[in-house]
Amino acid sequence: MSILLSKSSRVLVQGITGREGQARTRLMLDYGTTVIGGVTPGKGGTEVLGLPVFNSCADAARALGPIDISVLFVPAPAMKDAALDAINAGVKLSVLVADRVPVWDAMAIAAAAKEKGAAFLGPNTLGLASPGQAVVGMIGGRAESAREWFKPPLPGGAGVGIISRSGGMSSSTAYYLGQAGIRISSIIHIGGDAVLGLRIPDIALLFEQDPATDAIIIFGEIGGSQEEELADLIRAGRITKPVAAYIGGKAAKAGTRFSHAGAIIEGNKGTHAGKVAALREAGATVADAFGDLPAAVVSILRAKGSSALMTEAERRAVWTTAVTKIEPNKVAVRGHDIASLMGKVSFGAAVYLILTGRLPDEKVGRLMDAILVSSIDHGATPPSCLAARTVASTGASLSQSVAAGIMSINRHHGGAIEDCARYLGSIIERAASGAVADASSRPPRASALDTIAAEEVARIKSTGDRISGFGHRIHTKDPRTARLFELAVQAGLFDPAQPNAECRMPDAAASHIAAARAIERAFADIGKPLPINVDGAIGAILADLGLDPKVFNGIFMIARTPGLVAHVVEEQTREKPMRRIDPVNHAYDGPSGN
Ligand SMILES: CC(C)(COP(=O)(O)OP(=O)(O)OC[C@H]1O[C@@H](n2cnc3c(N)ncnc32)[C@H](O)[C@@H]1OP(=O)(O)O)[C@@H](O)C(=O)NCCC(=O)NCCS
Repeated sequence: MSILLSKSSRVLVQGITGREGQARTRLMLDYGTTVIGGVTPGKGGTEVLGLPVFNSCADAARALGPIDISVLFVPAPAMKDAALDAINAGVKLSVLVADRVPVWDAMAIAAAAKEKGAAFLGPNTLGLASPGQAVVGMIGGRAESAREWFKPPLPGGAGVGIISRSGGMSSSTAYYLGQAGIRISSIIHIGGDAVLGLRIPDIALLFEQDPATDAIIIFGEIGGSQEEELADLIRAGRITKPVAAYIGGKAAKAGTRFSHAGAIIEGNKGTHAGKVAALREAGATVADAFGDLPAAVVSILRAKGSSALMTEAERRAVWTTAVTKIEPNKVAVRGHDIASLMGKVSFGAAVYLILTGRLPDEKVGRLMDAILVSSIDHGATPPSCLAARTVASTGASLSQSVAAGIMSINRHHGGAIEDCARYLGSIIERAASGAVADASSRPPRASALDTIAAEEVARIKSTGDRISGFGHRIHTKDPRTARLFELAVQAGLFDPAQPNAECRMPDAAASHIAAARAIERAFADIGKPLPINVDGAIGAILADLGLDPKVFNGIFMIARTPGLVAHVVEEQTREKPMRRIDPVNHAYDGPSGN
């Protein structure tokens, strides 16, 4: 976790068409930030980097839905209007990048934000970053650098939270802590002006509540009273997490402005000595030199046994994997101890876990098992089986022969699972966006899915297109599909009483099974029943389970491998080498079963 910003935060860019707005939007997208659009008055209707541009934040909110954060790459003279535009459109956090925003304008923005229960960062801020998730503003520069410099917490683990009064030093602090093996939950540059939105005490209180933050690191400087207020919070017991700080500006004389507008000693207020003393008296660690800060943080984290401190192996690593962790006498798949999974979860559940990172409940595990069982083999004629047997007949090894079979699993063999899921996804999307050609002409009871399905069937009939996942060259009523859907109902994926209901799994927005059923109904309506086949059913179910279509072909490979091994061993033990394998004329001579 992190504060204020996560991977799923929906970010708007005001001034997106300007020089800095465009450049930074590209970098934010590269890092993984969910940028949803931008605003420049007079440029509504255009696009930047494929993102829609609107004339105002209100227009953007109407078209895009809720906006979590707006970042303003708008020059200082236009800042007040732009910030009020965001606040009035309901944006709860605005990030005001521009330098030299007039103090009166900052005060007007603060008053409007207070009235609307909104917050803002800046002005004169580089923004904020949640390492491993998202960047908003200008922190970290190129995405590759930001990824290399800022070490994110492990999933479920912690990092330290950085609050900085200096833009450049927010990145540098995070960099040097990273070099010392310290993970970072969030980096917040509060801005260098005298009148600010969120200040050190506000952010420290957020870090206090954040389970992913184990210590609070401050890059402070002379001027104002933010560090002293933080010391008060520590003394009052409202900040209990360890605080480590460095205060810049030791050499500055009273009355001199130290780089930022807010960094000025007035009379004997805001002095370096006063801030250091206040923090130390409250129990915080204050480093005398910036170079001492990382070591001070390391010892705090070591004493705490915090997961924010990387191990030696993690520090030495030049690349990382999130699949399986191997330590002496311990194997953990996606964070789950393998010995405790064994004998407890099914193979299907383990496949779901390794592909998604989530351990499913027992019913979903059973459904995954059923999917793997349903595709374990389909006789001797599929291309993968013929390929494996043909290669085996040349004297090739088991691994070579099975690999030959796997290599034939592709777009047209096993690929219907993914194709059908994507096709059903497109139907759901059209239904959700209301892109129904002539909704009024349909019977009023028809759902959007049924309407789109009817349009699709008409299109398929007139163009002669084939759709993946429907119909079968052998089966008219595939025995596997009915059973899979039955198990999908038991797993709570689908409710036959509400056939057009949305999917109930967290990561799948709408039901692909419902879309498949709508297509089947539409074919039946024109007297040409074309039932969904096993590949289509698996595609719909896997999509509704929230799996990424990119892995669907892989699931088919996982399922089919035992069948290929059986065929290869039979070929090697029963048949003569280099025989001509008739792809059609063969008979089954195994047990009759029931
Ligand atoms: C904010 C800043 C980055 C903008 O610089 P820029 O990108 O070079 O400026 P541009 O003029 O190219 O772009 C600004 C855009 O905002 C747009 N804009 C103006 N008013 C606007 C409003 N109310 N809403 C949205 N966009 C607005 C402008 O129309 C312009 O877009 P256009 O070029 O398509 O017309 C710059 O003024 C600045 O303050 N730089 C210093 C930032 C800094 O260092 N911060 C602190 C770090 S420690």
